Amino acid sequence: MSVYQSLYQRSISEKEAFWLEAAKDIHWDQFPTVVLDDSNPPFYRWFPDGRTNACYNAVDVHVENGRADQTAIIYDSPITDQASKLSYRELQIRVSKVAGMLLQGGVVAGDRVIVYLPMIPEAVIAMLACARIGAIHSVVFGGFAANELAVRIDDCKPKAILAGSCGIEPGRIVEYKPLLDQAIELATHKPDHCFIWQRDQAQAAMDHERDVDWKEAERAAPEASCVALEANHPLYILYTSGTTGAPKGVVRDTGGSIVSLKWTMKGIYGVEPGDVYWAASDVGWVVGHSYIVYAPLFHGNTTVLYEGKPVGTPDPGAFWRVISEHNVKVLFTAPTAFRAIKKEDPTGEYLKKYDISNLNYLFLAGERCDPPTLAWAQEKLKVPVIDHWWQTETGSSICANYAGIELLPIKSGSPTLPAPGYNLKALDPDGVECKAGDIGALVVESPLPPGTFPTLWNAPERFVDSYFKNYPGHYETGDAGYIDEDGYIFVMARTDDVINVAGHRLSTGAMEEVLAGHPDVAECAVMGAADTLKGQVPVGLLVLNSGCDRSSTDICAEIIKKVRSEIGPVAAFKSAVIVKRLPKTRSGKILRGTMSSIADGREWKMPATIDDPAILDEISDALAQIGYPQSSEQ
Ligand code: COA
Ligand code: AMP
Repeated sequence: MSVYQSLYQRSISEKEAFWLEAAKDIHWDQFPTVVLDDSNPPFYRWFPDGRTNACYNAVDVHVENGRADQTAIIYDSPITDQASKLSYRELQIRVSKVAGMLLQGGVVAGDRVIVYLPMIPEAVIAMLACARIGAIHSVVFGGFAANELAVRIDDCKPKAILAGSCGIEPGRIVEYKPLLDQAIELATHKPDHCFIWQRDQAQAAMDHERDVDWKEAERAAPEASCVALEANHPLYILYTSGTTGAPKGVVRDTGGSIVSLKWTMKGIYGVEPGDVYWAASDVGWVVGHSYIVYAPLFHGNTTVLYEGKPVGTPDPGAFWRVISEHNVKVLFTAPTAFRAIKKEDPTGEYLKKYDISNLNYLFLAGERCDPPTLAWAQEKLKVPVIDHWWQTETGSSICANYAGIELLPIKSGSPTLPAPGYNLKALDPDGVECKAGDIGALVVESPLPPGTFPTLWNAPERFVDSYFKNYPGHYETGDAGYIDEDGYIFVMARTDDVINVAGHRLSTGAMEEVLAGHPDVAECAVMGAADTLKGQVPVGLLVLNSGCDRSSTDICAEIIKKVRSEIGPVAAFKSAVIVKRLPKTRSGKILRGTMSSIADGREWKMPATIDDPAILDEISDALAQIGYPQSSEQ
């Protein structure tokens, strides 16, 4: 049996002993005597009587144990032409003061705090400051519209909001403060304070009683120390897309997360404390929470906070510059970033300008890694390129390769083998395990390992219904795929209305709700269509009210604008087309899957239950009008 195999087997057959051992690797104020409380499935609780603090494990422990002067954060911002470094000691002081500022603002353990900040050090400081005093942070990504922020404000009811004055996108400044004010206006719940971090690129108007100048308040605040919290105390809530428009508030606990994330740094990514680790994502996504902020800091690494894009800031050599300049050992990003680089620099000319021999591994996740992108990255970087599969719900990977334990042979198109604690199966609709190579629903036998979500915020019933109802005793990942004869997992598609656009998870259901709100729209469908750069993009099909004689071009333009203003630019909703009718089953279900296959140019079978097969020809013609299927040269 290989080293990986024996470790994995132990994590399944002796799970409590396995995780108890891993738990010894972190700092506890009170070491747990109980490993797993399984008295109320599927609400499992890891380390229920342990007490610890995530900020202590991320910052203070390193200051006390000889890493005070080591760089904790490298801020590299080609978009503003700025760069700076923060040592663990400097980070401790800033975080303690911001925690003190929150306490002075009346925030106590258990209160929620929304963090609405771009990729600047203050975003990391804000998250850690909350963790320090037991406030539960909820980070909202800058690419969402005010309406999405309002939905999150009403769901988690923050006592305070920590926001930046602006974010910066290529060619434009995104002013956050007007969006924040609009969101608070829309929301029923009102926070007591908004602490605003003023950036030079845009000064926010401080025109509400609740607005506080963050810099001044931080300067005046006392330092606050870490609070020992129950292991199951929520560390954060991160909203993610589900089937309906209402986002799901994924909860992460404290103790289990520290144990699991710390384990992955060596086990999966193969880094040692002191190494430089770079997750090129955004703090607004789970990858950012786990691998820009928490895991590298728990492990005493130096984390890179990159405010820029893979291309255009200023060129497709940006990633190579960062790797070489900061001595990055491991890069983690989404395949779409590599597709963007490959598109602009297919022969890798920019790579020749930099020495990236310090790089040991490239890890990819967030969407299916297409084999050509994998092959290109392998050929150009000459390091193992590791696809790993994970979700906001799990907080770290469900399947991966194990650079720090045993690097398993890589199979193109597969995120390799299950991570410790994930007893993964592909099941058919009757709950029977599929034969090797047959596609089924990918599920994980309960309980999920530590660090995964214990519940959904304010929605325990939705937690049970969305994830544990269809396959009793199992967590349903929402992904379909197969397991081959060597046990390798292949993740092929979502089984719900979630699509992945440039590695960003979006709900087509939420977009349909926006389309349906247009006065001329009688019926609509949004589906994901294959895109050569972003993996998938949303495409809207609209049936207009009878008698509507307005121009189709105007209506489509209005629809595109509406999605941008109600969901946000990140939805990347740029294609809509008018059709006479939508294809449905005899029972009235819209055949999105078949339309998606047509848009992608994949082979498809005429559904036996379709009410009128001729509609599919009309759909095919309509999609052709807006450029689908895309030609592969694009
Ligand atoms: N704040 C405000 N707007 C944002 C934003 C943010 N933080 N992030 C993205 N947007 C906007 C973009 O400016 C763009 O607006 P536009 O329609 O005016 O051009 C829109 O949202 C769509 O963004 P995106 O899908 O990222 O497309 P892009 O064309 O700007 O960039 C890539 C394409 C591939 C370069 C980019 O998606 C990328 O770097 N991806 C890396 C993958 C990644 O970070 N994934 C996260 C999970 S690991
Ligand atoms: P998110 O919650 O935003 O991280 O998105 C999770 C979803 O992204 C998963 O359910 C998958 O559909 C998809 N995903 C993430 N990583 C991979 C991967 N390596 N291969 C295939 N799909 C992936």
